[in-house]
Amino acid sequence: MPADVVTMDKIVSLCKRRGFVFQSSEIYGGIGSSYDYGHYGVLLKSNIKGQWWRAMLQERDDIVALDSAIIQHPTTWKASGHLAGFTDPLVDCRTCKLRFRADKLEDARCGRKPSKHPGETPDCDLTDARDFNLMFETTVGAVKEEGSTVYLRPETAQGIFLNFKHYLQFSRKRPPFGIAQIGKSFRNEITPGNFIFRTREFEQMEMEYFVAPEEARRWFDHWLEQRRDWYLRLGIRPDHLRLRAHDRDELSHYSSATSDIEYLFPIGWQELEGIANRGDFDLTQHAEYSGQKLEYVDSATGQRYVPYVIEPAAGADRAMLAFLVDAYDEDEIEGETRTVLRLHPQLAPVKVAVLPLVRKDGQPELAREVHRRLRERLQTEYDEGGAIGRRYRRQDEIGTPWAVTIDHQSLQDQTVTLRDRDTLTQSRVSIDELEDELDRRLRAPWCSPKLSAA
Ligand code: GAP
Repeated sequence: MPADVVTMDKIVSLCKRRGFVFQSSEIYGGIGSSYDYGHYGVLLKSNIKGQWWRAMLQERDDIVALDSAIIQHPTTWKASGHLAGFTDPLVDCRTCKLRFRADKLEDARCGRKPSKHPGETPDCDLTDARDFNLMFETTVGAVKEEGSTVYLRPETAQGIFLNFKHYLQFSRKRPPFGIAQIGKSFRNEITPGNFIFRTREFEQMEMEYFVAPEEARRWFDHWLEQRRDWYLRLGIRPDHLRLRAHDRDELSHYSSATSDIEYLFPIGWQELEGIANRGDFDLTQHAEYSGQKLEYVDSATGQRYVPYVIEPAAGADRAMLAFLVDAYDEDEIEGETRTVLRLHPQLAPVKVAVLPLVRKDGQPELAREVHRRLRERLQTEYDEGGAIGRRYRRQDEIGTPWAVTIDHQSLQDQTVTLRDRDTLTQSRVSIDELEDELDRRLRAPWCSPKLSAA
């Protein structure tokens, strides 16, 4: 792994120490591949989702939003092909009773001899591989035995196809147009435990873009470029991001072409987001199973067709991991190692910390007043506990781009120092100009300081 890629252990440790992400159900020993998001994790993920909505809805006028139910009619998954085909090949070990993905044995550890992969030692007694469906099954209805089997959605996309007709009728949309949704998806993943990279419940950010069939290729290229640019604009280093086209034998059952945007995670190059040309597969299948017409009819020309679908499908949790990995840095200040998250200011959980230099002489009172003014516009934090250096370090670790310090001079001339997380420069700014100055900095184009340091 290149030296500029942080280890997963450092990310997990920072996330726990600073309250971004915790192992779920930790007091009961934890539950595999499930994580809880703490205060800063919630803020960071919410900013990532906010930027995605912004790119989909605010910066364009051809995409509309949806929030569909997690539990859909069970026929959805017959029509979509998930009941028959959404499987992983799994093997069980008769000795240690653990279950592994047959195609990822090299990523897993033997239950008896963790220094070995499953199958590498006589301690392992592996069954043949069998296909297991990844969907979680449950029952709806008052009486379990009489209820019907339903599934927790394994992707948000199907909710979009089920609502396609509404958008044609009520939003008067005509191709090319997109429907975007962010929501939880669920998969019974058997994972080697790579933190929030692959979990059993996760949030997807998916958009289905409906186009005339002959225009599908052009829009596929368009979305590849748009989505790659989104990560770059939010500060991901270009040499840690790449596009990879799927080989024919890798394609999902619905896809005629897919390219992944891959990121150089601590576990190597891995999918961050997939962009697929789903053709007319989904609308045709749902039309057949529902008996409804799911097609576009041009009222002027009478032309009718089933639109093709281009789908950029991202994971909010996986994106958060990529942004954390890309931002993590260590440098040295006054002989001490500083951990700093060099996050894009738009993504940073807290934009500005307000700190009185000392807890006396009227400084806390003025600092609280400044804090009150700033929080009207920005996510801020007030902190008066401990030495100023330690308070800066705490903010650096959660990626706060700016700190405002109220000192002795502030009480005399109504100015404060404004410290920059990355350059460590401190400039003197009048309290009256602070909001505009922060606003200006927040809107300015940003690129990772790790790039200029390289
Ligand atoms: N609708 C297409 C679809 O769901 P996918 O490649 O299976 O495609 C899209 O998922 C994105 O969702 C992935 O690129 C990844 O970012 C995220 N994702 C998928 N499974 C995940 C899991 N188990 N844990 C976290 N994120 C996941």
